[in-house]
Amino acid sequence: ELGNYRHFMQKEIHEQPRALADTLHDAVAGESLLPELFGVEAGEVFGCINAVTILACGTSFHAGKVASYWIEALAGIPCRAEIASEYRYRDSVANPDALLITLSQSGETADTLAALNHAKTLGHQHTLSICNVPESALVRQSRLRFLTRAGPEIGVASTKAFTTQLAALFLLTLLLAKQRGRLTPAAEVAHIQALRQLPGKVQQVLALEPEVERWAERFADKQHALFLGRGMHYPIAMEGALKLKEISYIHAEAYPAGELKHGPLALVDKDMPVVAIAPNDILLEKLKSNLQEVRARGGELYVFADADTHIVPSEGIHVLQLADHAGPLSPILHTIPLQMLSYHAALQKGTDVDKPRNLAKSVTVE
Ligand code: M6R
Repeated sequence: ELGNYRHFMQKEIHEQPRALADTLHDAVAGESLLPELFGVEAGEVFGCINAVTILACGTSFHAGKVASYWIEALAGIPCRAEIASEYRYRDSVANPDALLITLSQSGETADTLAALNHAKTLGHQHTLSICNVPESALVRQSRLRFLTRAGPEIGVASTKAFTTQLAALFLLTLLLAKQRGRLTPAAEVAHIQALRQLPGKVQQVLALEPEVERWAERFADKQHALFLGRGMHYPIAMEGALKLKEISYIHAEAYPAGELKHGPLALVDKDMPVVAIAPNDILLEKLKSNLQEVRARGGELYVFADADTHIVPSEGIHVLQLADHAGPLSPILHTIPLQMLSYHAALQKGTDVDKPRNLAKSVTVE
């Protein structure tokens, strides 16, 4: 089953072009997106909602966080993502006109299922599940559904499930934007075209694996690492940090780079590698000054940039260039090298990559 790969995680990382192409197949077949991708009643539901709430755990929660940036920016709808285990036990103000999304690879995560049931008791009816397992409890219990086509994910560390969730959430964002008159036909065609090219762009990023592996060798003896991102790449920094802790047992934390001065900068010294996600977006100049602050304290920087980012490598500043900036799809591309970084750091450390200690693939108990 593993073919030429050493671990399922590595295989699943490399399956992402195929997984994305399969997940997007029906959506990008024509020149126009149809709400029915999310179920027969989706058009009606999308027309009557005034907010979006996303509930999930772990990596799936990070996908939800990215989507909250997309949905507010592109569709103009208030959107928040919340950790399912928090939501289920807090007294929240329910909005029955919200679209209530649960995100899950397995569709069997106990906290996410309980959060969905809790939301229903609060009056939420517009429920949508984005899930990788067709017959799962979450799918069965939701009114609308979108099935990601990642295929079985065996490695405990979620990889292809995450990027295919992002693809699904981006389709949803475009449909909501279209429904509200915020997507011109020309923009719709351009987005569909970009989605068609996405698997090929992911393939290009995968080709950077040998360089990422060299970087990973420098992480193996470290105790801690800091991941920085801004805007919609802050959740990607969170995902990079989660991957590193989960399989290499290196303590990692993610911060929105603007928060550095408010505390974490105190941790930075030569023993603290700092990973920065540096796409060529409107926050790049801000991020660059955050990176200077790190460098001034002796922190070694590992920067994942776009081809057009213009950060020059120098002493203590390592730069890897991905493709040209991919606009709103950039979080998907920037996830890939972080997955490879954690995979190779774990290999260096000799941990059990596919079955990290203390963790289960599917968390079906609280
Ligand atoms: O199956 P789910 O997407 O609901 O699982 C949620 C989390 O348990 C899962 O994403 C977990 O965080 C992964 N092991 C992270 O790699």
